[in-house]
This record gives sequence, C-alpha cells and structure tokens, in this order.
Amino acid sequence: MGEPSAPWKTVWITGASSGIGRRLALDLAEMGITVAVSARSADQLAELAAHSTNIQSYPLDVTDLDACRETARSVESDIAPIDLAVAAAGIWIIRDVKSFSAQDSAQVMRVNYEGAVNVIDAVLPSMTARRLGQVALIASVAGYRGIPRAVTYAPSKAALISLAETLRPDAARHGIKVQIINPGFVRTPMTAVNDFPMPFLMEPVDASQRIIAGLQSSRFEIVFPKRLAMIMKLLRVLPYALYFWLMGKVVRNK
Ligand SMILES: NC(=O)c1ccc[n+]([C@@H]2O[C@H](COP(=O)([O-])OP(=O)(O)OC[C@H]3O[C@@H](n4cnc5c(N)ncnc54)[C@H](OP(=O)(O)O)[C@@H]3O)[C@@H](O)[C@H]2O)c1
Repeated sequence: MGEPSAPWKTVWITGASSGIGRRLALDLAEMGITVAVSARSADQLAELAAHSTNIQSYPLDVTDLDACRETARSVESDIAPIDLAVAAAGIWIIRDVKSFSAQDSAQVMRVNYEGAVNVIDAVLPSMTARRLGQVALIASVAGYRGIPRAVTYAPSKAALISLAETLRPDAARHGIKVQIINPGFVRTPMTAVNDFPMPFLMEPVDASQRIIAGLQSSRFEIVFPKRLAMIMKLLRVLPYALYFWLMGKVVRNK
C-alpha cells in the first residue's frame, strides 16, 4: 500500500459490517488508510478485515456508551489517534399510523441518534485535546421533512441533521470538522426490504466515492444522488399546505 493520499491516517467507522459503511471501509483501506471497523456482527467484521491488513475489527453496539468510549480508547492505543470518525450505524423499521409502535420508535432513535451521540462523546475528548479531528454523521434526505411510513426513521435522521448543525460552528473553534452525510436510496441490506419504488437507487461503491470526496471538502452537507437531492430540497421549502397536499396523495396511493 502507498502513502495515504487523503488527509487521514486513521479512520473509525461504526456500522461497517454491511452496506455503505462496509464499502467505505474497503475504499479507504485501499487508499492506504488504517480503518477501525465496528458493528455488532463480529463475524462480518472479521470477514471484512480479511480483505485488507489496513482494516481492524472492533465489534461494538453503538447504544452502549461505555463500549463506544472503550473502543475509541483501544483504537487510539492500538493504532493511532482517530483523525476521522464516521457514524454510519443505523436501522430502518417501516411504521405508519396503523403499525405505530413506541418501542420501535425508541429503538430506532437509540441506534440512529443516540448511537451517533455515543460515538461523538467517545472521540471528542481526544480530538479537542489535539485541536484536530473530523466527525461525519450519516443521516438521510429522509430527515429533511416528515415522510409517510417513516415515523420511526425520519425523526431520527432529522435529529442527526440538527445535531450536526448545532455542533459544527463550536467544533470548528476547537479545530474539529463536523459534516452530515445525507444519502438518497443506496442498494444495501437496509433497502432490500423496501416494497416501494426507490428512485435513483445507487450502488454502495458510488455512494462511497461521493462520501470520500465530500469528506475531503469543506462542505457541511454531503448529499447524493444529485437529482433526488434536488427534489427533496424543493420539498423541504414547500409551504405546509402544499407539502401535505402532496403527501396526502402519496399515502392514498400506497
Ligand atoms: N441505504 C440507503 O438507502 C440509505 C439512505 C440514507 C441513509 N442511510 C443510512 O446509511 C447508514 C448505513 O446504512 P446501510 O444502508 O449501509 O444499511 P445496512 O447495510 O443495514 O448497514 C447498517 C449497519 O449498521 C450496523 N448497526 C445496526 N445497529 C447497530 C448497533 N446497535 N450497533 C452497531 N452497529 C449497528 C449494522 O451492523 P450490525 O447489524 O452487525 O450491528 C450495519 O453494519 C445508516 O445510518 C442508514 O440509515 C442509508
């Protein structure tokens, strides 16, 4: 492996056992970067680590704050200070009015939102001490506005976007770059369960390339694919009356 051509030597990715996180780990490792990979499935992480000597496995449940702190400490003592942390762990449970479940909403919030908070808590002390670091949270364009059938998921992603917006200016004063990654539809085990059309569905390798390019930029938001992003950004600024008229049509046609 050659010298890293990117501004990181050590990257920690949670949610790396499959989908977007896995592809990102492989692509960063290919660039010569050491990648610490976390998720709950130790066997899938071991299989991933077998692809490259640059990938090291740290199994973890992101809802466990102590485990997140312990893992960040282990990565920093085993490898080197974490230059970039990517919080990609996430779950998607389709729910609507008829299938509404407080337990499912809480579970999605625990993994998607609190899991990212735990990762941030785990890496900030070392990054602030060094006055250097980068944190990227994977949210979704589904976090822009309320989306039918996404009653567990959309609020968790809206919370992540707000969290990143809130942290960014203050973190910058401490030398830390905070970014939000808002993908559209990407073909992964998460979307394999969907029974509805997924416009502009992307492959994980394309998502990973866009993420790597965006992470090297000073942009706050890394959003793709472009065409879906434009539609979702337009929906975001529609007045409520028009937005709910449109969403009413969506729920009637489902
Ligand atoms: N695919 C899309 O279209 C799309 C669009 C927008 C945003 N996103 C977001 O992108 C991220 C990656 O999703 P994906 O599509 O790649 O899905 P995926 O293939 O299902 O990957 C999800 C990852 O999260 C991990 N995970 C789940 N619960 C966890 C927990 N409690 N602790 C640690 N890791 C946990 C999973 O590993 P284990 O099960 O082994 O723990 C897996 O590695 C998610 O945040 C998702 O919401 C995806």
